[in-house]
Amino acid sequence: MKLAENKATLSFSNGSPSIDMPVYQGSVGPDVIDIRKLYAQTGMFTYDPGFLSTSACQSAITYIDGDKGELLYRGYPIEQLATNCDFLETCHLLLYGELPDAAQKADFTKRVTNHTMVNEQMQFFLRGFRRDAHPMAIMTGLVGALSAFYHDSTDITNPQHRDISAIRLIAKMPTLVAMAYKYTVGQPYMYPRNDLSYAGNFLHMMFATPCEPYIVNPVLERALDRIFTLHADHEQNASTSTVRLCGSSGTNPFAAIAAGVACLWGPAHGGANEACLNMLEDIQKMGGISKVGEFMEQVKDKNSGVKLMGFGHRVYKNYDPRAKLMQETCKEVLHELGLENDPLFKLAMAVEKIALEDDYFVQRKLYPNVDFYSGIVQRAIGIPTPLFTAVFALARTTGWIAQLNEMIGDPEYKIGRPRQLFTGNVTRDVKPIAQR
Ligand code: ACO
Repeated sequence: MKLAENKATLSFSNGSPSIDMPVYQGSVGPDVIDIRKLYAQTGMFTYDPGFLSTSACQSAITYIDGDKGELLYRGYPIEQLATNCDFLETCHLLLYGELPDAAQKADFTKRVTNHTMVNEQMQFFLRGFRRDAHPMAIMTGLVGALSAFYHDSTDITNPQHRDISAIRLIAKMPTLVAMAYKYTVGQPYMYPRNDLSYAGNFLHMMFATPCEPYIVNPVLERALDRIFTLHADHEQNASTSTVRLCGSSGTNPFAAIAAGVACLWGPAHGGANEACLNMLEDIQKMGGISKVGEFMEQVKDKNSGVKLMGFGHRVYKNYDPRAKLMQETCKEVLHELGLENDPLFKLAMAVEKIALEDDYFVQRKLYPNVDFYSGIVQRAIGIPTPLFTAVFALARTTGWIAQLNEMIGDPEYKIGRPRQLFTGNVTRDVKPIAQR
């Protein structure tokens, strides 16, 4: 970051002396005011619940311009990456800063592929879960448990450990998600097949059985690969910030990523694709397209507590660029599977059209986000709704680990420790129980 020529001056109405604070410029995007010495100089903290105006780190990985609807990984527009590169090239880019050349790609793919199996003991660990457990409950446990199986790569101060645990996490997440699925449906686990692509292998582990050959459909393989690429990173969102905060204590990467999985589960974050599909199914049960208007009235009524899932974003105040790409993929997949007349897809189009024209959504700059379409694509592929967020976690693992490694390598890195505005009781004495 570069020191800007101007400074910020903070003055007080009570006559306390004003103070100057440095301003830094990034390569693009808003400048930041450096408030690190504020407490030492004034005895005051800043107050910013939800981090609406606070940068908690400097990062060179992902940039979002929410007003333009632009998403860049290491400077490359998401549209170009989704069209010209596959997911493992994107992983290489996020982790190491550059797209691989052909030799680097072959080497990276080999390294990931060689780590796709998980320790055989993991299946016994999995057996402890109820068969009807939510896949994200299982994933939180399984990812955390990796640290119990791979303790030869848990020292985050060692760059080699960081690298090998990054590779292990990227390689093993599809295996774990597929195992969680197979466990809930009571089918045998399918071991990874290293002759398949990353997405193709995931489809195989999900949908093959030992009874007959499984042929990967290239359209579905490409669609899944695109889902992974679009979800790979999204700068300092809630789960990534959770991974950074958790990892800032020096905990091992598997534990930090498990924290990210737990955070992602929430319906305001990664759980939105599941919530969005459930919402569409509810509207369908109410009567389908003819009931969209009625449903929208509920969404606009603040007392109803109903939100239009898959719409709105903290950063994008324009069309989420990932939603456009996902809409394209959605059409391809439905065409391939002969599901163009899928009632849920038609319903989604009707909801989107009404919302984009409605004043409530226009004024608040609420546009479809990536989750609006990714659920429909996943459902068409055959992925069950409760597994959607686990697929998101699989893809986001690359971003989480890239961000974690960036933080550990940053000389300014410190344990994260937010402050508070205390509004509780001041000192008081404990009374004997009979007098309380
Ligand atoms: N439906 C109806 N109203 C909404 C929606 C929605 N989906 N999203 C925001 N609004 C309204 C809010 O009620 C608020 O209205 P007000 O100004 O009258 O009070 C206004 O729009 C601003 O919304 P905020 O909640 O302040 O926006 P915030 O940035 O805090 O929230 C969030 C963003 C959490 C994503 C929100 O839009 C939401 O809950 N959307 C639905 C869930 C969803 O799709 N999440 C996926 C996010 S993308 C991802 O994680 C991959």
